[in-house]
Amino acid sequence: MSVAGSVRAVTTLRLTEMKQRGEKIAMLTSYDYSTAKIVDAAGVDVILVGDSAANVMAGYETTLPITLDMMIYHARSVVRGVNRALVVVDLPFGTYQGNSKVALDSAIRIMKETEADSVKIEGGEEIIESVQRIISAGIPVMGHLGLTPQSIHKFGTYNVRAKEEAEAEKLVRDAHLLQEAGCFAIVLEKIPAALAERVSKELTIPTIGIGAGGATDGQVLVVHDMLGITNDFSPRFLRRYADLHGVMSEAISHYVSDVKSQDFPNEKEQY
Ligand code: KIV
Repeated sequence: MSVAGSVRAVTTLRLTEMKQRGEKIAMLTSYDYSTAKIVDAAGVDVILVGDSAANVMAGYETTLPITLDMMIYHARSVVRGVNRALVVVDLPFGTYQGNSKVALDSAIRIMKETEADSVKIEGGEEIIESVQRIISAGIPVMGHLGLTPQSIHKFGTYNVRAKEEAEAEKLVRDAHLLQEAGCFAIVLEKIPAALAERVSKELTIPTIGIGAGGATDGQVLVVHDMLGITNDFSPRFLRRYADLHGVMSEAISHYVSDVKSQDFPNEKEQY
């Protein structure tokens, strides 16, 4: 049910209040119903249906190939599993850049077809018109600055961004622009901790960091990475809270061996 039905308890307003009282915001990605249900019940405040689904769900190398239809499929599944958290859905590459009318149409499709609470957009000044137009239609927008994976072909690497002064100053300006445009929060990805701290102090809206140090108002990780389902991605910022790759591999090998040896199913496991 929607926020209007007051079942989902976390709203954009509550996130601002959390920042004001110094309570950190916990955000994680989810892409399917069953995972979202676990993530929500564990107390995560914000669930991001990230376009990282392109990587961890679909196996693409970059986030560029994922389509709006694919994102809508994932978001619908997630929303059905969530009672409390605020659900944010990434606008995928090619659905908002360069044309604010297209951006608004994409955001409206997400809101109408998924019943999510908000959308997330990568970029600053260059996409500000799209941000303004979406917000003026009543759709909450989360910004995303620093390493913006949809621009990988421009950057050429996934290295830390904004280490140089000019890029850092542009990031600070972009953060203020997004706040003035009405964004309710901003993701800061893979930037120096000192810069993230400065932005977090200057803004009144919450910042959510990934590889941006401990001074942001919240943290986000990709759920497959923090659970250790992926085991081939180990950036310095990633803390693994489980080794599900190991647990799943062992359980599945065990199943294969039980089937081969005819141990499974036994008499109690049949009708
Ligand atoms: O798509 C995603 O998962 C993201 C997070 C890394 C912030 O944008």
